[in-house]
Amino acid sequence: MRDLGRALLRSRVWRSIARHGFPDSNRNRSLAVLTNFFLHFHPVKVRLRAIRFTRTFYLGGLSAACFLILTMSGVLLMFYYRPAVPHAYNDMKDFAFVVSSGTFLRNLHRWTAHAMVGLVLAHMAWTFLRGAYGPPREFNWVIGIGLLVATLLLSYTGYLLPWDQLAYWAVTVGTHMVAATPLVGPEIELLLLGGHSINDNALVRFYVLHCVVLPMTLALGVGLHIWRLRKDGGLHLPALPMGEDTNHGQDVPGSEEGAEGSPTDSVRLVIPNVEVADGAPDPGDEPMVMTFPHLLLREVVAFLALAVLLVCASLAFDAPLEGIADPARTPNPAKAPWYFLGLQELLRYYAPVVAGVLLPSLCIVALAVVPYFRVNIERPALWQVAPLRRLALLWLAIAVLTGVFRVGATGIVWSIVVPLWLVGAAMSAGALPWRGGRLGPWLRTRSLPFWIFTWFLLSAIALTVVGALFRGPSWRFTLPWRDGIY
Ligand code: HEM
Repeated sequence: MRDLGRALLRSRVWRSIARHGFPDSNRNRSLAVLTNFFLHFHPVKVRLRAIRFTRTFYLGGLSAACFLILTMSGVLLMFYYRPAVPHAYNDMKDFAFVVSSGTFLRNLHRWTAHAMVGLVLAHMAWTFLRGAYGPPREFNWVIGIGLLVATLLLSYTGYLLPWDQLAYWAVTVGTHMVAATPLVGPEIELLLLGGHSINDNALVRFYVLHCVVLPMTLALGVGLHIWRLRKDGGLHLPALPMGEDTNHGQDVPGSEEGAEGSPTDSVRLVIPNVEVADGAPDPGDEPMVMTFPHLLLREVVAFLALAVLLVCASLAFDAPLEGIADPARTPNPAKAPWYFLGLQELLRYYAPVVAGVLLPSLCIVALAVVPYFRVNIERPALWQVAPLRRLALLWLAIAVLTGVFRVGATGIVWSIVVPLWLVGAAMSAGALPWRGGRLGPWLRTRSLPFWIFTWFLLSAIALTVVGALFRGPSWRFTLPWRDGIY
């Protein structure tokens, strides 16, 4: 059998497809990555520190994996689904009763879409919190913001396609927010819906956006994003502390000097973007491992874990399908998809133009420009100079912001103000004279953008949780354990 395998790999047909032998030497492992269309976006070798699970939790890779699963399951769904008002809802029913494995396919597509939104948001948050948005990655961060918006739109446009009550009214909430944009709102709404109401035209437009325009945009954007990742010097890694054994005392297979005499072994890798502390080892001397198998194995395991999870969820839970869309019967409450519930909750306090347009646009612009302002990037400096004066300034700023979030609102927006106070308290704790322990130095060395982002993040989570669990008919406050979840 072994001989047969080797003969097959040596055969002319096989060598016309793959130009390398069995990947049992570093040379062949290098060629396996270099000459493979799907793998060549990886470098041949990676720094050992970069493949540690906690470095990225593979969140970006898993987002890309979700996109792949969505594309495959979406194409299969397209064979049966017709984007026309008389058919759309019935085709959804057919998935349950006529199409073989139709329910599973629909569930897989729906749960993967939710997973992708969650993973992309988590990837963005983790990338920010570990400071990977700074030079030279600023532009890749901006591309990432574009990918986030495209992912949200992809999920949102898919929401209408089942043409049930949930779809119809969730999309109605969203388009009302769009229509509130000053000056251009009604025009954008007209462009999106192809009319002034959600009907056949809107369904076709959402279908084309969902199945063609947005997937193509995302595919192009993800390709650009990953290409930039390599051009920016690979993953962001923190400065090498003096004398740290990045190997943790272990031998790294495939990283030995000159192992197997491969041509790539003699290439000295130029790593332009690793910060180096004074007296720290040269980053060029960092331990490296072969991408094949070390990184690829980890990626395959992460992908399989995600796939198993999604398949189990799709077997256990059915995607919701309510009654057919009825413009004359408004459900109470009509809730947007979970990732827009934070905005819908804000609508409870502010006029649509503020909650649906001004605040989200400000957040997106702030996120996009933050890498270009190197505010307090010398982290320890925050409390090193005049700590008392800075503490007073901090609480003055918090008082002003608390006031700003009260102005024009129908009440105190607790979901924003409480996270602000919590972040202020955690920041202030960093100024205390801590003796020993890790918490004090950790709090003291966070940068100002870190704290601002944490505030954004906590507020977004609080608004979403309140909107999802604690709001009932007419958007009144309810308790989920007493009244159930609406
Ligand atoms: C469809 C959505 C996205 C996909 C498929 C994607 C994919 C990836 C992948 C595969 C990586 C390599 C590291 C990892 O696996 O985490 C990465 C890194 C990165 N991503 Fe994304 N990403 C997406 C969205 C975003 C968003 C929303 C942002 C931020 C706004 C972002 C910013 C970055 C940055 C700055 C890096 C470099 C991190 C570093 O150098 O350590 N990405 N992305």
